[in-house]
Amino acid sequence: MAEVAAAQTVAQHGQPPIVSKRDFLKLLTGSGAIIGTGALVWPFIDYMNPSKDVLALSSVEVDLTPIPAGQGITVSWRGKPVFVRHRTPEEVKKSQDTRVSDLLDPAPDSARVKPGHAPWVVVIGICTHLGCIPLGNKPTDPRGDYGGWFCPCHGSQYDTAGRVRRGPAPANLELPTYAFESDTKVKIG
Ligand code: FES
Repeated sequence: MAEVAAAQTVAQHGQPPIVSKRDFLKLLTGSGAIIGTGALVWPFIDYMNPSKDVLALSSVEVDLTPIPAGQGITVSWRGKPVFVRHRTPEEVKKSQDTRVSDLLDPAPDSARVKPGHAPWVVVIGICTHLGCIPLGNKPTDPRGDYGGWFCPCHGSQYDTAGRVRRGPAPANLELPTYAFESDTKVKIG
């Protein structure tokens, strides 16, 4: 126990404790109390290490084939809703033709999609005003005047590229990290 106390005292004064392998073995074998403490600490340490389940959720693969043009889905990624929208050719053109200078948070359509995949928009579905989840993915949802998403909390509207078109939201919907693994599969995260 003296070794433990000494190590703790040194650690409290900002210096890393120096414990040789022999000291460590002495600590392990010298006291049942220490082993008991280890048993209590382990679940806590284990808890702090992400489980395989959590690691798996750090990325999500989305099959795009069931999503028809004009519709979108919501997937959960790291506890957040992510909208995956399949835009029609008309929606893509309208978004591309929008004057960037007219936007509240200026960004061209090309900055909101991956090259070669203009129909697909992937955004984090959290309103940039106060964090509500906007509507617009279900066929019966209101989509606002710009055809994207409508936030029912205070009326913010987003276009099909997830760009804010009417406040009070101050910014476009955030883009998650994602990549196309093929033309029909996206990996988020
Ligand atoms: S939280 Fe969306 S408009 Fe306020």
